[in-house]
Amino acid sequence: MNKIIAVCMLTLFTSISVIAQKVNGDVKNGEKLFKDNCTACHALDRKLTGPALKGIVSSLSEEGVDVEWIRKWIMNNEALRKSGDKRANKTYEEYDKVAMDVFEGRLSEQNIDDILAYVENPPEPKEEAAPVVVQKNNSNDINYILVSFACLGVILIFTLLKINQLVKLKTSSSELSELEATRIRTFSQFYIKYKGALYCLITLFLALSLYGVWAWLMGIGVDKGYEPEQPIYFSHKIHAGENKINCQLCHSGAKYGKVSEIPSLSVCMNCHRNISEYTGKYIEPGKSKEFYTAEIKKIYEHVGWDEENQKYTGNQKPVKWERIHNMPDFVYFNHSQHVVAGEKTIIADYNKKNPNHQIDVVCKACHGAIDTMNVVRMANDFTMGWCVECHRTTEVDMNNGYNAAYFNKLHEKLKKEYGEDKSKITVDAIGGLECGKCHY
Ligand code: HEC
Ligand code: HEC
Ligand code: HEC
Ligand code: HEC
Ligand code: HEC
Ligand code: HEC
Repeated sequence: MNKIIAVCMLTLFTSISVIAQKVNGDVKNGEKLFKDNCTACHALDRKLTGPALKGIVSSLSEEGVDVEWIRKWIMNNEALRKSGDKRANKTYEEYDKVAMDVFEGRLSEQNIDDILAYVENPPEPKEEAAPVVVQKNNSNDINYILVSFACLGVILIFTLLKINQLVKLKTSSSELSELEATRIRTFSQFYIKYKGALYCLITLFLALSLYGVWAWLMGIGVDKGYEPEQPIYFSHKIHAGENKINCQLCHSGAKYGKVSEIPSLSVCMNCHRNISEYTGKYIEPGKSKEFYTAEIKKIYEHVGWDEENQKYTGNQKPVKWERIHNMPDFVYFNHSQHVVAGEKTIIADYNKKNPNHQIDVVCKACHGAIDTMNVVRMANDFTMGWCVECHRTTEVDMNNGYNAAYFNKLHEKLKKEYGEDKSKITVDAIGGLECGKCHY
């Protein structure tokens, strides 16, 4: 018996070392490349548009397929199929002839080995510490105002009534009944005795209302912490966190222009045609697999997908997502300027300022650790001061394609102004504090 185990262990070890020899890659870089290029269609441990890729090298080698074949497939699956490769054509048929992207020219041989090293042995995800978000609740401030105004009102009405009685007393004192006289006497005694306290109270309420008005004015448009309920319980933690789906797969607008856009349901269906039930390991406290599955079915209901017959019925009901981030109309904010041109320096600057919370995706510098949030929450206050603060401190990447061409001339001028030290050029130097750049 012991011998058998020993033999098994031995073969296991040798097969692992064989694999390790064959794929020699940088796991960390592989993870990034996998996220950027493959997660649109592949997950590690479940079938999406394409097969699950965890341990793909060893499982294919069990079928007698070597790494070289996998490299060829990833580089250019079309060419491999056209060359008449049997296996390539069989997989293609099995997956309803959905063509995988061709990566020739986009990935190098080494890149592919990095990816394979990653999917072969993905490290266990470690919990990323979510930054502490101070929830600011504006309705509290408004409550201060309402309560103090109400109290002031009551005190005022009470005093006015009493003064009215006193006036009456003066004009018609002869007709004063015994009862009224006692009442007035009690009030005057009460008033004289507690005058000090009354003034204190009024001052306190006045101060409170003033504070309330001030806090309310300062807080206009500040919605940090805002997290409304959504029509479908869509969890970024499950999508971007657990399943490592790239932000820009869904928010594809961020690269190209002003808005990031909320993905349409057809984007959801790319994956959810196949994922109709929740089978993930992660379950938020208070939720269940059944709950998640029911939420997935809501997509079908909205998009008009008949699951049984696997076809669209044509009955569509748009999903009304609650908008969370929303700048006033007079503000001009452009995602691509930050996500493409600013990407490198924003990440570098953020990581320098936050040694305990390092980011790899530019979005997180402004939106926080969205991939740890089940419900999206505003992670910053998104005020003018916030934009300006970052423009003052973040350097401009003068070497990226966008800026190199555009600012070439300006660069010469800036060099004269700031000296040769390029590292001093922050966004304010290229006009990032000019009113007209952010305001229409
Ligand atoms: C546009 C969708 C898409 C993208 C992006 C994509 N794949 Fe695929 N992949 C597929 C599909 C679909 C298949 C199944 C075969 C077919 O239909 O062509 C597949 C098959 C594979 C296979 C073969 C598995 C087998 O058992 O034969 C490997 C390996 C693979 N993909 C790796 C990758 C890697 C690595 C990336 C990223 C660099 C990637 N794929 C990106 C859709 C995609
Ligand atoms: C699978 C698709 C998908 C992926 C991947 C994804 N998102 Fe989203 N995102 C959505 C949907 C759907 C909404 C609208 C519902 C909601 O607010 O949760 C949304 C909302 C948001 C919002 C709030 C929009 C508003 O109303 O102001 C932000 C910010 C955001 N996503 C950022 C990110 C970032 C950053 C990542 C990557 C870490 C990411 N998203 C990954 C689908 C996705
Ligand atoms: C790239 C693939 C992909 C896309 C695109 C995608 N999902 Fe998912 N979704 C998944 C995966 C993977 C799971 C987890 C399934 C599991 O673990 O069994 C999931 C789970 C879910 C769940 C259950 C867990 C939760 O988040 O509450 C819901 C609901 C859901 N998706 C809604 C959506 C919606 C709405 C969209 C479009 C805005 C969308 N998904 C787009 C891959 C995707
Ligand atoms: C420099 C800060 C910054 C970065 C970086 C950034 N965003 Fe935004 N994002 C904003 C601001 C500001 C808004 C509000 C825009 C508005 O209301 O016009 C916003 C709004 C959004 C919205 C709501 C819809 C919209 O476009 O108005 C989504 C979704 C979103 N961002 C996703 C992303 C994703 C995904 C990334 C990374 C690819 C990203 N953001 C990077 C600042 C940023
Ligand atoms: C996390 C840092 C950061 C934040 C926050 C930020 N920006 Fe920027 N912004 C940058 C960087 C970096 C650039 C320079 C990009 C480049 O290389 O062109 C830039 C450039 C710009 C430009 C172009 C300036 C020019 O002269 O071409 C505008 C306009 C702008 N940002 C608007 C905004 C607005 C509006 C906000 C707030 C809603 C904001 N930004 C928040 C980092 C930031
Ligand atoms: C980097 C971008 C940026 C620049 C530069 C900028 N603003 Fe703003 N400004 C904003 C944003 C974003 C808001 C909206 C803040 C909010 O909704 O809380 C705003 C709001 C305002 C408001 C409304 C009051 C308020 O604070 O909400 C005024 C007035 C204003 N800006 C004037 C100016 C003037 C004048 C300049 C030039 C000296 C200027 N801004 C430069 C981004 C900018």
